[in-house]
Amino acid sequence: MNARQTKVTIKTNERIAHRYCRLVLAAPSLARTARPGNFIMVKVPDAAGVLLRRPLSIHRAEAARGRIELLYEIVGPGTDALSRKRSGDLIDVIGPLGNGFDVRTRARDALNILVAGGVGVAPLVFLAQRLKKGKVLALIGARAEAHILCAGDFRRLGCEVRIATDDGSAGFRGRVTDLLEDVLMRIRRKKDFRPVLYGCGPAPMLKAMARVCRENRLQSQVSLESHMACGIGACLGCVVQTTRGYERVCKEGPVFRTDDLVW
Ligand SMILES: Cc1cc2nc3c(=O)[nH]c(=O)nc-3n(C[C@H](O)[C@H](O)[C@H](O)COP(=O)(O)OP(=O)(O)OC[C@H]3O[C@@H](n4cnc5c(N)ncnc54)[C@H](O)[C@@H]3O)c2cc1C
Ligand code: FES
Repeated sequence: MNARQTKVTIKTNERIAHRYCRLVLAAPSLARTARPGNFIMVKVPDAAGVLLRRPLSIHRAEAARGRIELLYEIVGPGTDALSRKRSGDLIDVIGPLGNGFDVRTRARDALNILVAGGVGVAPLVFLAQRLKKGKVLALIGARAEAHILCAGDFRRLGCEVRIATDDGSAGFRGRVTDLLEDVLMRIRRKKDFRPVLYGCGPAPMLKAMARVCRENRLQSQVSLESHMACGIGACLGCVVQTTRGYERVCKEGPVFRTDDLVW
C-alpha cells in the first residue's frame, strides 16, 4: 500500500455526542485506497507541546465523493486541538497506514460479529461497509447510554445491533464481552451460522474477547491501539509480543489475529 503525506481539507468537524467528534475530510486518494482497519497519522495543528502526529482510524471512506471520515474522542491536547479546527482548514496527514482487516470472501452462512468498545467502534463501521458475505451483528459497548456511538450507522448499513452498557442505562447491563458470550451461547444452540469475529476497543476488552474466542474455538481479528510515535515502522515504539516475536502495531498491525498475540 502506498502511504502518502498530503494536506487535506476539512469539510466538517462536529461534536456528535459527549466528547466524541466526527471529522469529514476531502481526501480523494485516501478514499480510493483505504481499507477497513487502516489509519492515518494526523499532524495536529496549533497544539502547544504536541510534537507527534496522532493515529486515527479511518471510520468511513466514500470513493465516489472523494471523502473519508474520522471519529475521535477528545482525550488530551492533540484531540482537543483537532476538535477546534473548522471547515475549510487544511490538515497534514500520512496514510493510509497499517495492514487492515482481512475481509476476503467468507461463506454465505458467516455471521460477522463486530465487537466495539467505546470509540473503538470507529474502524468497525468502515468494516461493516465492506463486508460482502454473510450477516453482520454489531455489539456496541459503552459506559452509559450517552456514550453509545454509531448504532444508527450500523443499522443504516443493514446490520443487526446489540448494545451493552456498564451501568445498564441501555441494552444489556455489563461488558460487551459478556454480551458476546451470551450471543455465542444462543448461536451455538441454533447452529445456523458460523461466527467470525472482529474487535476494536480498550486492551482489557480485547483480552477478554481473545479468551472468549479461544474457549469457543472461533477466529477473530482485533485492531490494537498502542501508543505510536512515527506510525510508519521506523521507531519500534509500538511493538507488541506475538507468537512470531515482537511486531510493530503500525506496520504488521494494527489488526492481529487474537491467537497470534501473547496476552
Ligand atoms: C491505530 C490506532 C488507531 C486509533 N484510532 C482512533 C480513533 O479512530 N478514534 C480515537 O478517538 N482514537 C483513536 N486512537 C487513539 C488516539 O490516537 C489517541 O486517543 C490520541 O493519540 C490521543 O492524543 P491526545 O493528544 O489527545 O491525548 P494524549 O495526551 O496523547 O493522551 C491522553 C490519554 O489517552 C491515552 N492514549 C493516548 N494515545 C493512546 C493510544 N494510542 N492508545 C491508548 N491510549 C492512548 C494516554 O495514555 C492518556 O491517558 C487510535 C490509536 C491507534 C494506535
Ligand atoms: S510507531 Fe514507530 S514503529 Fe510503530
